[in-house]
Amino acid sequence: MRKFMTTTAIALAMMAGAAQAAENVEVLHWWTSGGEAAALDVLKKDLESKGISWTDMPVAGGGGTEAMTVLRARVTAGNAPTAVQMLGFDIIDWAKEGALGNLDEVASKEGWDKVVPTALQQFSKYDGHWIAAPVNVHSTNWMWINKAALDKAGGKEPQNWEELVALLDNFKAQGIMPVAHGGQPWQDATIFDAVVLSLGNDFYKAAFIDLDPAALGGDKMKEAFDRMTKLRSYVDDNFSGRDWNLASAMVIEDKAGVQFMGDWAKGEFLKAGKKPGTDFVCMRFPGTQGSVTFNSDQFAMFKVSDDKVPAQMAMASAIESPTFQSAFNVVKGSVPARTDVPDTDFDDCGKKGIKDLAEANANGSLYGSMAHGHANPASVKNAIYDVVTRQFNGELSSEEAVTELVAAVEGAK
Ligand code: BGC
Repeated sequence: MRKFMTTTAIALAMMAGAAQAAENVEVLHWWTSGGEAAALDVLKKDLESKGISWTDMPVAGGGGTEAMTVLRARVTAGNAPTAVQMLGFDIIDWAKEGALGNLDEVASKEGWDKVVPTALQQFSKYDGHWIAAPVNVHSTNWMWINKAALDKAGGKEPQNWEELVALLDNFKAQGIMPVAHGGQPWQDATIFDAVVLSLGNDFYKAAFIDLDPAALGGDKMKEAFDRMTKLRSYVDDNFSGRDWNLASAMVIEDKAGVQFMGDWAKGEFLKAGKKPGTDFVCMRFPGTQGSVTFNSDQFAMFKVSDDKVPAQMAMASAIESPTFQSAFNVVKGSVPARTDVPDTDFDDCGKKGIKDLAEANANGSLYGSMAHGHANPASVKNAIYDVVTRQFNGELSSEEAVTELVAAVEGAK
């Protein structure tokens, strides 16, 4: 009897081991900050509870620039990861190369067509086939204000550019650094998304979605660059190269007044135990309330050997479950990638994010984020990054920047 039990136990253990070995995903991602890692953990644990083990392939670097370089090297070496965190046009670029698998079976079984917003499906589908599973919707036109500093300044949230400048001057007078910023091209570009949007929806669309040379090279764009110069005067001397989460920490630790950053910043505030409305205030970049520049993290599934496909499908299915969508996005700072997830568990900033997104979608004021790969392919995005960063660092005047911007975009198209 004892011998029988032991043999059975061994057999069971072996079966479990085999199942586990088959159900494994290697995931390449750039979620390495405190808040991001906490959200990633929700995904890891969810998959583990379904018997799918996780091989982690983190590549630090906000916005995913470095992750995309590592991915290219892996695919070139014939060793694609199972699933890859990816943004917008990058997904489509890989699909065009024929590198991605097909999620149609799970998508149609679960009715993704009906619940994933069309703005996201544009990037989750290629040639009519599902190629990626959207995890969330982030947006870039947010600002995160230290509540104590705002209260000292009178407590009023700035509604336009002039009020924003007045608030930043007030922070300076209070003796705290007005703007927490990390000088990395993608962070400069994230602010630029909001600044361009603040000069009008039509302008944002003409410049970044339509790539209209008249908008890229016109007076309004010059004004956008002038605003960047002004914002540059409110950052500290050590901003160059600073990671975005360290900039968030400056606001969290009362060392700076505000950070202009996508709503992944909220993940850092929450991880530090800070409460919206009490410790920090979330609002849209002044002048952009009613409009949203979005980006969505999706897991693109690469073509892998047949034995790995079931794990990809299981991961995709787990990601789209409404319960997971709520649990993950509550921690991440983003909002669900499905329209049928209740906002019950979200804090006020999350509820606002969900409402703003639905309204912008209904009103035609929802645009892909230039900075986060949802307005153009990487070639164009990187060309814009280059000009924005050089101008922000004082290497180009606003006049020179508009001229360079037109040329850079034309060259990259
Ligand atoms: C991603 C976020 C991420 C942020 C900073 C964005 O491009 O969509 O998920 O938290 O970059 O790394």
